[in-house]
Amino acid sequence: MNRLDVRGLSTSFHTDDGWVHAVVDLSFSIGVGHTLALVGESGSGKSVTSLTLMRLLARTTRTRVSGQALFASREGPIVDLLDLPALPESRMRAIRGNQISMIFQEPMTSLNPVLRVGAQIAESLRLHKGLDRMAAQAQARRLLEQVEIPEAAQRLREYPHQLSGGMRQRVMIALAMACEPTLLIADEPTTALDVTIQAQILALMRRLQAHTGMSILFITHNLGVVAHHADDVAVMYAGRLVEAAPVVPLFAQPRHPYTQGLLACLPSRQRLQAGAVARSGHDRLRAIRGQVSSPLAPPPGCAFEPRCDQAVAACRAEMPPLHAVGPAGPGDADRSARCVLVAEASS
Ligand SMILES: Nc1ncnc2c1ncn2[C@@H]1O[C@H](COP(=O)(O)OP(=O)(O)OP(=O)(O)O)[C@@H](O)[C@H]1O
Ligand SMILES: [Mg+2]
Repeated sequence: MNRLDVRGLSTSFHTDDGWVHAVVDLSFSIGVGHTLALVGESGSGKSVTSLTLMRLLARTTRTRVSGQALFASREGPIVDLLDLPALPESRMRAIRGNQISMIFQEPMTSLNPVLRVGAQIAESLRLHKGLDRMAAQAQARRLLEQVEIPEAAQRLREYPHQLSGGMRQRVMIALAMACEPTLLIADEPTTALDVTIQAQILALMRRLQAHTGMSILFITHNLGVVAHHADDVAVMYAGRLVEAAPVVPLFAQPRHPYTQGLLACLPSRQRLQAGAVARSGHDRLRAIRGQVSSPLAPPPGCAFEPRCDQAVAACRAEMPPLHAVGPAGPGDADRSARCVLVAEASS
């Protein structure tokens, strides 16, 4: 069973320079208790995707959203998060507070600087769970212990600025866990932290997931951190899905040249740990040349073509559709890639 099925999601913004198509016809699914990593470089549309799903984009005539986001609610029925008439804002607010939680890169944008940590968590518990003051305080302490904050009782009385970056991110996670979400959307939750703290936070999220069975949409620009923390990967480029696969076959045999480039950007040790095939003589770090083309003037063909070393004439003709990747290896059944080379290889 899937917790979330996103189908044909598109989000565009009307700017003074024209329409920016930030997300185009994006589809993916997240199984119950599974983690899907949404990966892509800056500007590929990852945050717009999460904000659209949470209905947190300012709703103006300059924003256009289409598609479906079918969410299996705790009560049973499947609700379309993007269907405004069927799911009015009042009901969406209840889902946002109680079933879907979100954590962001910078905890200070979500934590209130003038409220003690304990009071913030307790407030959320009173609001969403209807707990009284004493019960909320006790539960806030349990939550801090759950996210492995030492001396929880003491920390409850502190203000966010008194905590380190890693501690603040743990508080954010505690806050997100307060409503026992069935879906956690984590948008670059660890990019602001140093590498060892990053690993600890990701491991913590994984443990909480094993304990609660929640699903996670994990957004990152770093394919390296995905290997140990995701079940499935969706790679975005310029607003579109370019490759989707379970994590092991994706690392072993990336099909889209962009995914291959992202993997080649990782240090070889990280690649091997992730299960990628060692390629002797090609162990140097390789950056992907060029830049993402402007969303205002996309090239007519494949958006990655101007940066692709493997491009052929057909790539410039039209945007390739997503092709199912042929059964070349184990785990290939659930794979797809948006590339003419993939289509040729499997036909
Ligand atoms: N409100 C807005 N109005 C106009 N354009 C926007 C708006 N929000 C986002 N965009 C554009 O949409 C595209 C996708 O942005 P998004 O923030 O989703 O990227 P991202 O993948 O999250 O990048 P990063 O890794 O830097 O966080 C970008 O080109 C961005 O400039
Ligand atoms: Mg972002």
